[in-house]
Amino acid sequence: MEGEAGGSTVAGSPNTSRVAVVTGGNKGIGLEVCRQLADHGITVVLTARDQARGTAAVESLGRLPGDVIFHQLDVTDDQSAQRLAGFLNTRFGKLDILVNNAAIGGVESLTPDGSAPGDDKFKGMDARQRLEWMRNNCRETYEDAKQGLETNYYGTKRVTEALLPLLLKCSSPGRIVNVSSNFGLLRLFGSEELRRELDDIENLTEARLDELLAAFMEDMEAGGFAKAEARGWPAGGFTAYKVGKAAVNAYSRILAKRHESASSLLVNCAHPGYVKTDMTTNSGILTPEEGARNVVEVVMLPDGALTGAYFAEGAQAPFV
Ligand SMILES: NC(=O)c1ccc[n+]([C@@H]2O[C@H](COP(=O)([O-])OP(=O)(O)OC[C@H]3O[C@@H](n4cnc5c(N)ncnc54)[C@H](OP(=O)(O)O)[C@@H]3O)[C@@H](O)[C@H]2O)c1
Repeated sequence: MEGEAGGSTVAGSPNTSRVAVVTGGNKGIGLEVCRQLADHGITVVLTARDQARGTAAVESLGRLPGDVIFHQLDVTDDQSAQRLAGFLNTRFGKLDILVNNAAIGGVESLTPDGSAPGDDKFKGMDARQRLEWMRNNCRETYEDAKQGLETNYYGTKRVTEALLPLLLKCSSPGRIVNVSSNFGLLRLFGSEELRRELDDIENLTEARLDELLAAFMEDMEAGGFAKAEARGWPAGGFTAYKVGKAAVNAYSRILAKRHESASSLLVNCAHPGYVKTDMTTNSGILTPEEGARNVVEVVMLPDGALTGAYFAEGAQAPFV
């Protein structure tokens, strides 16, 4: 399931340029990340869950300094992740950069047909008012929350685990940039105990993260978002999205710590800003190009730069 555009790479030929994988590359911030990485001369594997949307996205980019190649990837599907790993191994024998960008809002839109309003709708509104509008125009069900965690946290973890051996094969440290969100900050959690545990990277394990996420889903099943909020999970809407991004942040820190001493991998989180995309029903402040720049800056950090860090719109910031 692959197509090619914008380059002359031949299967099996030696490739000297850096190779990047971007998940959810067919639209929004992901598509712009692909464009900007290819502008740096990097060979980009633009992945999408839907082949037609992915190949159309590659075509829309036209000719760029780096090749852009499509490969199918549904981040919720183990076999799809393994097929991508096999393809990369055969074609390049390594991977330099992984941008885990694919995500869903974990909510159900209440706008007619789920359609996004035009730009005019949000003129004169500040970011808080826009977010309030979004919150009032969606609802969060148990199923949405489950799918949200499955895509946003477990999808990121699944793809990372499948591609990690290839990232560790590079002669210079591989890069993982997890596209996170200020909605994943621990200050949004009502429970001091949850905040402390998710911030205690010396002791937190992936198994404990699984237990915490299972407890969140139990609270959701027992009493929906009201119960979850009462138990100290984030308040103010988009609850599962916030929990999923906090889990992505914690996982990134655990992974960074595991590989720190060998200097073999830089793992960081990037909040792109509040961006006009389908996820925000176009309510954002930044363009996808501006949002992507905030992600690509973190990808392009030099060898020996920070690892296990969080960057908000390009500037390092606390996870809390
Ligand atoms: N927009 C913002 O203001 C904002 C703020 C903070 C963080 N972020 C983060 O930025 C990233 C990009 O978001 P965006 O705003 O660009 O959203 P978007 O326009 O809705 O794009 C999301 C992308 O993820 C893909 N995707 C969803 N589920 C997938 C799956 N199971 N497998 C593979 N791909 C899947 C979508 O593919 P389909 O087209 O097939 O659905 C699409 O390509 C996300 O991680 C998001 O959480 C965004």
